[in-house]
Amino acid sequence: MPAPEREHPWWRSAVVYQIYVRSFADSDGDGLGDLQGIRARLPYLRDMGVDGIWLTPFYPSPGADHGYDVADFVGVDPQFGTLEDFDALLVDAHALGLRVIADIVPNHTSSEHEWFRNALADPAHPDRARYVFRPGRGDGPPNNWPSVFGGPAWTRDEASGEWYLHLFAPEQPDLDWHHEPVRRDFEDVLRFWLDRGVDGFRIDVAHALYKDAELRDEEGPFPVTQFSSDWRKGIDRPEVHGVYRDWRRLVEEYGDRVLVGEVVFSDPARIAQYTRPDELHLAFNFALLFEEWDAGRLRATVDRTLDAFGAVGATATWVLENHDVTRLATRYGGGAAGRQRARAALLFLLALPGTAFVYAGQELGLEEVDVPDERRQDPIFFRTGGERRGRDGSRVPIPWTAEPPAFGFTTGEPWLPMPPEWAESGAEREETRAFYRRALELRGGFRDAPFAWLESPPGTLVFERGDVVCAVNVDAPELEPPAGEVLLATGAGPGSAAWIRRA
Ligand code: NOJ
Repeated sequence: MPAPEREHPWWRSAVVYQIYVRSFADSDGDGLGDLQGIRARLPYLRDMGVDGIWLTPFYPSPGADHGYDVADFVGVDPQFGTLEDFDALLVDAHALGLRVIADIVPNHTSSEHEWFRNALADPAHPDRARYVFRPGRGDGPPNNWPSVFGGPAWTRDEASGEWYLHLFAPEQPDLDWHHEPVRRDFEDVLRFWLDRGVDGFRIDVAHALYKDAELRDEEGPFPVTQFSSDWRKGIDRPEVHGVYRDWRRLVEEYGDRVLVGEVVFSDPARIAQYTRPDELHLAFNFALLFEEWDAGRLRATVDRTLDAFGAVGATATWVLENHDVTRLATRYGGGAAGRQRARAALLFLLALPGTAFVYAGQELGLEEVDVPDERRQDPIFFRTGGERRGRDGSRVPIPWTAEPPAFGFTTGEPWLPMPPEWAESGAEREETRAFYRRALELRGGFRDAPFAWLESPPGTLVFERGDVVCAVNVDAPELEPPAGEVLLATGAGPGSAAWIRRA
């Protein structure tokens, strides 16, 4: 008999497919992906074998950070469709057995949100207290905090002379979570989408909602790394855990739903604090996103992760790609060798115990696209004067066919240019896709089996999940696979992997 849902909920060993809404599939020819486009592709996702999808923000937004600047938390941007489209998508997804996770952005709003417009229009307006407005120090901002996107984290409101805080772009003013109404507002937002039937939420910058109440200076230096949250003392405050305890209780009223936090630290033990039994069900663990293709480092990362999440009784999560980082094949060196390693890494990822998040296009082995400067849209590119190239290269629309110029994504002009060379790699994409499907199907057979490392030579990673062995040759001259039936393999030699059912 299968375990009751409470003991073994669907998200515990799931594969969740991330859809960057504007880049997935365009139904109306405007060059931007939309909800009807996604809806039409749901059978594809069901056939691929994922358990659910996570949709990046599709709410009304001026698009300063492509949807992560939300102007209305309970609507759909007309560019992406309507609330009715969303409801229809949900009905279809559920009919196909797919769960749907919405992205919630509680750290900030768009500067076009009604609250912020009220706050700017009249310093005495009650909505002003929803944001962090402070007088400056001399001519400068109230403290030395840098924005994650480059430049200072403060912008001056010329009318009042005060400054407002934005950890990201100036068009993304931070909310003040010390102000009680903000907390209530977000409970209403959660209920709005839960009542419509969503299966859970991915919570944007979940660790940052509460800032140091005194807004004290950070101690420099401020290295710009993917884990720039590591050194910030002004965030990751104890109060935030109370919010997630409340949210956990709230979503549990609705039954089988999931809260996934984007908690960006390099130390999994720090992330795991957010997944204590009465807080978030899951939190992203980005350790593999920034790890090199190196057996010792990968193994240490897996051990640290399993220990940290195990210590709080939580499920480990794994991510190799998302819309904020360079595509995997490119990180692993690019070209045929990079793509081969990325495929081997997929077998590694999907054999790990816990929940895996995969990013649209990963199943096609896509490489980072070198978007020309004049077509770039990411605020990171502009706020750093081009020093940081930004994230557009991993957000280029998905090719569904081998036909240029838009590869079945749209009948119009794609919002970011799609490389004409993709016309030559259609067959390889199809092959990678079929490989993915097969891997997901096989994973179903061992997704809940116990994990253990097996002895193996340097430069390799070998572990078992029940009677299936995952053998990865990272960079060893060779790896003798264990005896048994090869279920799936990516080739031989360094940068290869296989799943073997033990004889
Ligand atoms: C994390 C999101 O993944 C990223 O795309 C966004 O720019 C920031 N949060 C700010 O919302």
